[in-house]
Amino acid sequence: MDRFLINGGVPLEGTVQASGSKNSVLALVAASLLTEEEVVLTNVPQVQDVHTMVRILEALGLQASLDSTGTFTLAAGTPTNLEAPYDLVRTMRASFMVLGPLLARCGRARVSLPGGCAIGARPVDQHLKGLKALGAKVELTEGYVEAQADRLRGGQVVFDINTVNGTQNVLMAACLADGTTRIENAAIEPEVQELIEVLTVMGAKISGAGTDCLEVEGVSELGGLNHRVAADRIEVGTLLIAGAITRGDVEVTGTSPQHLASVTEKLRDAGVGLSIDGDRIRVRGSNPLTGVRVKTSPFPGFPTDMQAQMMALLCCAEGSSTVTETIFENRFMHVSELKRLGADITVEGRTAVIRGVESLSGAPVMATDLRASASLVLAALSARGETNLMRVYHIDRGYDRIEEKLRSLGARIKRVKD
Ligand code: EPU
Repeated sequence: MDRFLINGGVPLEGTVQASGSKNSVLALVAASLLTEEEVVLTNVPQVQDVHTMVRILEALGLQASLDSTGTFTLAAGTPTNLEAPYDLVRTMRASFMVLGPLLARCGRARVSLPGGCAIGARPVDQHLKGLKALGAKVELTEGYVEAQADRLRGGQVVFDINTVNGTQNVLMAACLADGTTRIENAAIEPEVQELIEVLTVMGAKISGAGTDCLEVEGVSELGGLNHRVAADRIEVGTLLIAGAITRGDVEVTGTSPQHLASVTEKLRDAGVGLSIDGDRIRVRGSNPLTGVRVKTSPFPGFPTDMQAQMMALLCCAEGSSTVTETIFENRFMHVSELKRLGADITVEGRTAVIRGVESLSGAPVMATDLRASASLVLAALSARGETNLMRVYHIDRGYDRIEEKLRSLGARIKRVKD
């Protein structure tokens, strides 16, 4: 297991390019199952979760690859095996998104139930409810979801809660259903919008993009695709906080600032000097930071995927802050580790109260999930002394060459292979 050795206290300075969005790519790769033609995606981040998705396509009997330039290719073809196995699905919940496309295209699919994960129970009931509304027969056997429908038919789906991957799964299936599907209370996250854009290029007929009510007129087949993946808004937000927390001067290029408005506004509220010029966002951290209140909510609210990183910043802000997590029931695992670095945090239910300290200090800490790991890297970059961050495989799941990017900004961060 790799670990990071981080010597903090260096203000980061320079310009760094955003990578493509991990969460967009995972849905787009699932969507590639909807066509028998070739699919090419560029600007794909080199992250473990995308490699896992490639392995799932291979397990389905397809030829897929991700090369070192960030180009994903799925060769034209038809799945010869309709089962996504437990060994792969359990390592990444997003792989459950192959269920809708496989079922819609091949009439049948068997996908392992993903199970819980560190940040919460994360059921898939809404995915299944949606597919059933399109006429799928769904059974749970031996830990697998088996779904069947000779051809899905259009239907009405009203999600009980806001679900990003649930919306994407059902939307993909509806594209090849017979008739019209209406999806209400759909998630409106940028990754859902990018999927709609891509499906439309492939030939899908979707109206209502940008709203929480989508209408899909099913078609009998979809065509191939060549698409450049949009910037990863969570990576961008993380790099901006790296600049702010080290009181540095960091510019991130190739971003979509409109996808990050809730984050950039909160950073400004906290006293971070921030400017936006086209697709470039720059932070200058010379001002004193002040405590703020943060509450996560679906887009365009403050993203749960930025909650841990924002908390790291607030550990070093004057006065007290609160961070309330409303999306996942157990997404405060970074708190105990931040406390090991000297943070003053108490958790009351779904709210963490943070009292700013003058400075953090390095310590051995353990990564527990992807965004928790990112928050520990950020805290370690600002801390005095050395931090030994263990289990960085969590961060490798979703950040593209993070230590190289941080090093290019002057960070003293080293990967150690044990
Ligand atoms: N939920 C249900 N039933 C369902 C689906 C979801 O109860 O059938 C609940 C979840 O347990 C959670 C809430 O609904 O409490 C929202 O979950 P959602 O379905 O929106 O999450 P997701 O689609 O599984 C995606 C991202 C997550 C991100 C969330 C919220 C991908 C691959 N993952 O997950 O990203 O936190 O949306 O924005 O797109 C990450 O990148 O670190 C990450 C966890």
